[in-house]
Amino acid sequence: MDAANLTTIAVIGAGQMGAGIAQVAAGAGLAVLLGDTDIERARAARDGIAKRLAKLVDKGKLGSGERDAVLGRITPLSSLTECKTAELAIEAASEKLELKTELFRELDVLLAPSALLLSNTSSISITFLAARTSRPERVAGMHFMNPVPVMKLCELVRGEQTSQETMDLVAGLAKRLGKTIVHSRDRPGFLVNRILIPLLNEACFALEEGVGSATDIDTGARLGLSHPMGPLELADLIGLDTVLAIAEVLQQGFGDDKYRPAPLLRNMVAAGWLGRKSGRGFYVYDAQGVRGEPARPEWRNP
Ligand code: CAA
Repeated sequence: MDAANLTTIAVIGAGQMGAGIAQVAAGAGLAVLLGDTDIERARAARDGIAKRLAKLVDKGKLGSGERDAVLGRITPLSSLTECKTAELAIEAASEKLELKTELFRELDVLLAPSALLLSNTSSISITFLAARTSRPERVAGMHFMNPVPVMKLCELVRGEQTSQETMDLVAGLAKRLGKTIVHSRDRPGFLVNRILIPLLNEACFALEEGVGSATDIDTGARLGLSHPMGPLELADLIGLDTVLAIAEVLQQGFGDDKYRPAPLLRNMVAAGWLGRKSGRGFYVYDAQGVRGEPARPEWRNP
């Protein structure tokens, strides 16, 4: 199998990452079978993609014919069994080990033995997921960054059992999707989140300790470090539940309390304040996802 010859892929999980992956894959000419727990979620993701493509048409960056063609290549699924014709699957479900394990077991049964099973996991062991399938040599990590259509990177993760043929195909696919690749060994958090999550978590500790306001923490990173977003804004974009889940994987995977999640982060997730997707995190967001003030008065600048 060669990445240039791929025609049909499945993307399982139609949240912000799955939708972004579906968009770039369809944009690269692939037919995308988009699945989630029910067809309504998959349809909602496709509607979101339609809105983003409409903005590109308005800006003159995409023709309306091409927009229709891209959307036409995305098929929302009413059940996972409908993805069995896919030549490979990219799993982009929530960052929960049991959920991903179950999905890998199901995909392993459904897809042809030659199909690759890839995970967009941000931190979970590829070696572990691969071992739950009958084709561990055809399992690898393909970790995209959020927002997928904008971010140029795709981090490729090789499990202990992954074959070179699989890695070559995944690298070819990433390039076909217009991404630059980096390779990571299969260690908790891989490369990008090993670096990023401690930064975001430390910003939560600093906020909790009252070292500075949310506004100043984020302005500090934006203007002092030239980051496009401050760590609290970025945590809100990623989703605080995801940030917490990755921090826990780092803490447990390395057995090192230097990765322990900030209590404030835990409490925000417990309260359901998950960031942009829930309308409130460190900041408040309007229905269009536009960021407003820090969510608590004491997090604002006087
Ligand atoms: N989907 C698609 N396109 C989007 C988008 C989205 N969700 N959000 C923004 N864009 C597009 C905009 O349409 C705009 O496109 P044009 O240039 O064609 O007009 C472009 O991105 C820039 O957007 P904006 O002008 O609205 O805003 P900005 O200049 O502040 O950029 C940003 C927004 C791209 C998100 C930028 O702030 C950024 O790069 N932030 C950092 C993002 C980041 O670090 N991501 C990695 C997260 S870690 C991760 O994903 C790994 C993990 O496992 C947790």
